[in-house]
Amino acid sequence: MTTEPQRRRASVSDVARRAQVSVGTVSNVLNRPDRVSPATRERVLAAIDDLSFVPNGSARQLRAGTITTVGAIVLDIANPFFTDVARGIEDRLARDDYTLMVASSEEDPERESRYLRLFEEHGVRGVMVVPATDRVDHLLALRERGVGVVLLDRPAPTPDLSSVAVDDVRGGELAAQHLLDQGHTRVAFLNGPHSIRQCADRLRGVEHALAAAGLDPAEHLTEITLPSLNADGGEAATRALLAREDRPTALFCVNDLAALGALRTLRREGVDVPGEVAVVGYDDVAFAAELATPLTSVRQPTHLLGERAADLLLRGRDAVAEQVVFQPELVVRASSAGDRA
Ligand code: RIB
Repeated sequence: MTTEPQRRRASVSDVARRAQVSVGTVSNVLNRPDRVSPATRERVLAAIDDLSFVPNGSARQLRAGTITTVGAIVLDIANPFFTDVARGIEDRLARDDYTLMVASSEEDPERESRYLRLFEEHGVRGVMVVPATDRVDHLLALRERGVGVVLLDRPAPTPDLSSVAVDDVRGGELAAQHLLDQGHTRVAFLNGPHSIRQCADRLRGVEHALAAAGLDPAEHLTEITLPSLNADGGEAATRALLAREDRPTALFCVNDLAALGALRTLRREGVDVPGEVAVVGYDDVAFAAELATPLTSVRQPTHLLGERAADLLLRGRDAVAEQVVFQPELVVRASSAGDRA
């Protein structure tokens, strides 16, 4: 099997040598063609064509001081919550002719760091990050190196960093209070790792609601950590809960994907929803209302989260940091309301 020699990507210097001009002349042909004589311009364009030269956009943007790319790192772009947030970012960036590059950290701090390094090397204007850990020192250092930083989907732990988030403590309270109002006293919370601030805050909200109702979380709350923050994780956790003697009568899920998995398992096991087990999700993504048993969910203003984060980033590095917090809203549907068995 013959292997093609890896062709080196032609550089500006290769083009200059081929056209017998300076690198600056090649740059002028690319960026300020009016400054180059037609004959020289033709010779340079012929060399670009011969060498299949592709200008390095980042290098050009860096030289011209017109960096027009922004990076975003979310936990999982396959989660429609983050897709909707990314769309909000993109819509705001487009108004100023910026482009967006999105990556998923998969809740892995190492993967997050690799993408941050890639974005920095690419010369992005700034990054919006849904942190995979509680640490932000690496983000403060990035900002000190001149890359704009906005925390997304979690409040900044320091006034020096801008952030856009939703009050997840309140979101957990809304979900738990609703289930208590329906008469549930054995609640399971299908949660993510507490290293993710959203997950820790939602649990705090659930505990606040139970305490306000005079119920000891140690007796009335079962927290189960999802193996993954998606439908497969929700299915696995629900199977484990159904196998328990003290089966919970209500499942609060850390996001709608996990709730989708819980509903799948409950339907497969013939468990009536909400008659035997009520289910509440979080995010209120588009599919929540369309399910066979429409899902009660804690709504986040997803598109607005993205828009505001992009807005804060484009204000510039010298702008005073701002921490924006939106309020969640409980949307009640059939998966938790109605007659209990
Ligand atoms: O998956 C993690 C969750 O955190 C998302 O669904 C969204 O709720 C974010 O805040």
